[in-house]
Formats: sequence, C-alpha cells, structure tokens
Amino acid sequence: MTPPRRVGRKITTREPIIQEPEQFEPEATRRPAGVTESSRASRGWWDRNADEYQTEHGTFLGDDRFVWGPEGLDEVEAELLGPPEELKGKDVLEIGAGAAQCSRWLAGRGARPVALDLSHRQLQHALRIGGARFPLVQADAGALPFRDASFDLACSAYGALPFVADPVLVLREVHRVLRPGGRFVFSVTHPIRWAFPDEPGPEGLTVAASYFDRTPYVEQDERGRAVYVEHHRTLGDRVRDVVASGFRLVDLVEPEWPAWNTSEWGGWSPLRGGLIPGTAIFVCERG
Ligand SMILES: C[S@@+](CC[C@H](N)C(=O)[O-])C[C@H]1O[C@@H](n2cnc3c(N)ncnc32)[C@H](O)[C@@H]1O
Repeated sequence: MTPPRRVGRKITTREPIIQEPEQFEPEATRRPAGVTESSRASRGWWDRNADEYQTEHGTFLGDDRFVWGPEGLDEVEAELLGPPEELKGKDVLEIGAGAAQCSRWLAGRGARPVALDLSHRQLQHALRIGGARFPLVQADAGALPFRDASFDLACSAYGALPFVADPVLVLREVHRVLRPGGRFVFSVTHPIRWAFPDEPGPEGLTVAASYFDRTPYVEQDERGRAVYVEHHRTLGDRVRDVVASGFRLVDLVEPEWPAWNTSEWGGWSPLRGGLIPGTAIFVCERG
C-alpha cells in the first residue's frame, strides 16, 4: 500500500547513534496501533533518525526560528501565539520540540519556554545547537510531568500529535497544564493529504486512498513490531478532539505555499502546495 505520508524521512541506510542499526527493511502497512505501541515506535524512530532529520531539515528550520511547517510559515508573520511583544515573561510549553528551534525563538522574545520531546537524541540536538537557556524535558506528551496550570501558552509544530494514538489524551494534558485563558497552537499534516500518495511530484496529485480511513500508517519489523507510526484524523475528528478536551477552537489556519519557497520536504512540494493544503494549524484556547 502506498504510504499516505510521513513527517520524517523514509527509512534508508543510516548510522544510528543510540541504537544498533536495524538489519531489516521495514514493511509499510495500514493497521491498528495503540497508545503504547505508537509511543514506543516514535521514541525509537526519532532516536535513530534525529541526526538525519536535523541534517536534512536543520537549515530550513533555522536554529532559532519558529516555523510551523514545510510551507515555511513563520511565527514572526503568523503571530498565532499573540503579538511577539506580549510573549515576554510568558511560561510556554513546546511539545514535540525536536531540537527546540521554536523554544529558542520564544526565549529570544523574552518568554520562558520549556522544550519537551519523547526522543533523547532530538533533545541532544537541542544541546548541540546551544543557546538553550531553558529546560529540556524528555517525556511523552500523553503524560506531561508538570503541575496543573503551569503555563500561559503551549505550542507544537508537528510535534507528537501526528504520532499519537489518543490525541484527546494529549489535548487534555495540555489543557490541564495551561492556565485559564491559555492558548495552545499546534500544527499537523493537513488531513486531506492522507487521501493522496506521499509524493512531491504529479503522482502525488491523484487520490489513492479513502480520506475517511482512519487506519494508522505503520512501518513494522520482521516480527511485526511497529517501528514508525502515524495516525490519521479527519478535519472533523480534529475539531471534535479539540472541543472534547475542553478547548475552544479560535482558528484553523491552512498556510498557502509561498512563491519564495522552492524547497521540497518529503511529500510537500511547491507543485502540490499550490493546489492542496499540506498543513493544518489549530489555534485553541482554554476557557
Ligand atoms: C516532525 S518532529 C517536529 C519537531 C520540531 N517541532 C520541528 O519542527 O522540527 C516530531 C517530534 O515529535 C516528537 N514526538 C513524537 N511523539 C511524541 C510524544 N508522544 N511525546 C512527545 N514528543 C513526541 C518526536 O520525537 C519528534 O521530535
């Protein structure tokens, strides 16, 4: 079956740092994957592939920029977390922070970010880039190690939510750690992309699967253990998840592909970006 998409790069030969090299070529399939299996797969995959991810995308992301997705929409332009001058002194939780580029940008605006990620290796890249005058926390987004009402804002650029089996669990956790009136802004792959092959060229423009098929995309090893998982929710599912978690949906942003961006990122490309949305950004507020 054609993979619907992947945020990370296709698994090829590589030089894992944390774990032993895999001796198998993972099989791509669509099958159920629960909370624990998805989390375990994500941690392993991002530990093994963080080096490659940062090498491939680090320049585009910038060390201290806040980029919401492959279209290149920048928080400087978008202001989805509010006016930059109002970020000063705010406690901000970044979920699925990777190398913490967004947190570094927030710190530069005077905010007090905490960068959380499941992957140790991703957070090592945060240390490598440096300038991290804020906490780096290794934890699962489904069990946030913070007290209730600890943060003014939370954000996530493609972190955690595309990969978790129970997004409501994550959203409820974020709701819990936000202070009343706090905002959570997160980006994910636009759900419509799941109906198309994850290819940047013309072959990625023909519907190949049902948009309504929520069966996860799984890569598994020779014993059937998941090594990479992504979960699909329709746009309506995402809206219902946000509301069921106690948030109010303030905006749903679908960034258009800008003329200046000639880069490809996996299945995201100028060709497809000019025709169909690639990213959905949900702006949510806690009552
Ligand atoms: C596509 S990367 C995005 C990283 C960063 N925001 C960026 O734009 O480069 C997804 C990140 O989510 C993290 N992640 C995946 N599942 C997670 C979970 N359950 N809890 C916390 N982080 C998770 C991965 O380790 C990875 O660093």
